Amino acid sequence: MDYLDEMEQYARERKIPVVLRDTREYLENICKTLQPKSILEIGMAIGYSGSCMLKQCDANICCLEISKPNIILAKQNFEKLGLQQRVEIIEGDCLKTLPTLLGRKFDLIFLDGPKGSYVDMVDYILPLLSEKGVWISDNVLFRGMVLDGKPITEPRFERTVAKMRDFISKINDNPKLETEILHIGDGVSCVRFK
Ligand SMILES: C[S@@+](CC[C@H](N)C(=O)[O-])C[C@H]1O[C@@H](n2cnc3c(N)ncnc32)[C@H](O)[C@@H]1O
Repeated sequence: MDYLDEMEQYARERKIPVVLRDTREYLENICKTLQPKSILEIGMAIGYSGSCMLKQCDANICCLEISKPNIILAKQNFEKLGLQQRVEIIEGDCLKTLPTLLGRKFDLIFLDGPKGSYVDMVDYILPLLSEKGVWISDNVLFRGMVLDGKPITEPRFERTVAKMRDFISKINDNPKLETEILHIGDGVSCVRFK
């Protein structure tokens, strides 16, 4: 078992949500083929998906994360993997920290933060995406409840599902964007400029 697998196991045992295996492979393939120089990750948790991406390219990553305990763990993990020089962590609520990035550009953006706020972040994220960049978002199908007609299992999911539908409509309906919704993991969207 390598250190990335250990990180995954650590997260699963403690119920810290990290990307599923096929989502990890999808992100790794994008990094291998795109070879981004700059990555933005919104929702870093313990640095698992960030590390997986960094291992496939020589990019630097900027991570937005609200949880102090996760940030402590992520720093330890990046150090253990010798990746710390390539990582910038911005602590706080991404709805507040995202606007502070205006003027910067990222070749790859991975959105994996608060699921009910994706739609509210679109207008902050698009100006940060480089011309030939790729923007991936995780959990957009949210356990099949968003587009696949599975019943909403808990009342607390109702708002999240509605907001995720709004998110998908917003990126699909933007004429400047090419959008794919993929049945990978919990559902992944992939957005590029036309
Ligand atoms: C699904 S986890 C990220 C998993 C990570 N991308 C991975 O696969 O290794 C979501 C993360 O978003 C963080 N988060 C939730 N709300 C946030 C907010 N408003 N601003 C910044 N981070 C937030 C959580 O603390 C959590 O660590």
